[in-house]
Amino acid sequence: MNSFVDLPAIWAARQASGTVHLVGAGPGDPDLLTLRAARLLVQADVVVYDHLVGAGVLDLIGAEVQRVYVGKERSHHSMAQADINALLIRLARQGHEVVRLKGGDPFIFGRGGEELQALVAAGVRFEVVPGITAACGVASYAGIPLTHRDWAQSCTFVTGHLKDGSCELDWLALTRPRQTVVIYMGLSALATICERLIAHGLAADWPAAVVSQGTLAEQRVVCATLATLAGAVAQAGLQSPCLTIVGEVVRLREELAWRGERDARVEVASEAAALAAARCASACA
Ligand SMILES: C[S@@+](CC[C@H](N)C(=O)[O-])C[C@H]1O[C@@H](n2cnc3c(N)ncnc32)[C@H](O)[C@@H]1O
Repeated sequence: MNSFVDLPAIWAARQASGTVHLVGAGPGDPDLLTLRAARLLVQADVVVYDHLVGAGVLDLIGAEVQRVYVGKERSHHSMAQADINALLIRLARQGHEVVRLKGGDPFIFGRGGEELQALVAAGVRFEVVPGITAACGVASYAGIPLTHRDWAQSCTFVTGHLKDGSCELDWLALTRPRQTVVIYMGLSALATICERLIAHGLAADWPAAVVSQGTLAEQRVVCATLATLAGAVAQAGLQSPCLTIVGEVVRLREELAWRGERDARVEVASEAAALAAARCASACA
């Protein structure tokens, strides 16, 4: 195998090309952008953006800046990953300043690492601008602290949607005590995920929540238990994107919810009332 790397050629190519700025757009609310991200959205030549970038963030892109949508909704990729990589390389080689804009943080379930590997291989210069990942932004706006000295000393982020389409997670690790588990992309497998967590040792009445369109005006939160969450979410008809938070910290929302969206307490209360009614009905039968 020839392992020769032509460093002078790579360096010369870098000098001639533009830069790709891999930028995190945060979870949706444009006020959560970093200053660096906001500046780049005005200064760039081209912005190549994903499906989950909030409309309010897109509004901040300069009028003269070219926009390229490359999609990536679940099961509907408007452009294949290899084509996105090739596009970034081509635009940079044409000398453009390219913002590659991704929802949340580009390095958290965002394939940012894969895109940078392609840029490295092509000798394209880049920088990374972190964003607020959904777990942090969405939990904050839902009034759910991901750690708390009384309830959770660790927090784990997992994806509920694996590359091969399966949902085989490290269930034992996810059911360890005193931790919060945040599940990205877990909506379609929600019932299975809750069942597995119970089967691996978490109580059926362990607190869990799903937050839909977190940080946006449309944010909705459903708080329930592992046993009832999937049903409650289906009933509520939540819109994606949705994030699932599992752990005792979810109960703190009762005290800490600070936004005016539909109140989870009402939903928990009505769920409790329905359970009580069902128990009463079976006792009276
Ligand atoms: C492909 S992952 C990208 C994650 C992103 N890189 C980040 O750091 O947040 C997309 C998943 O993030 C979660 N997500 C992103 N934005 C969200 C929001 N505003 N509200 C709820 N969940 C969100 C959902 O679970 C969604 O399916």
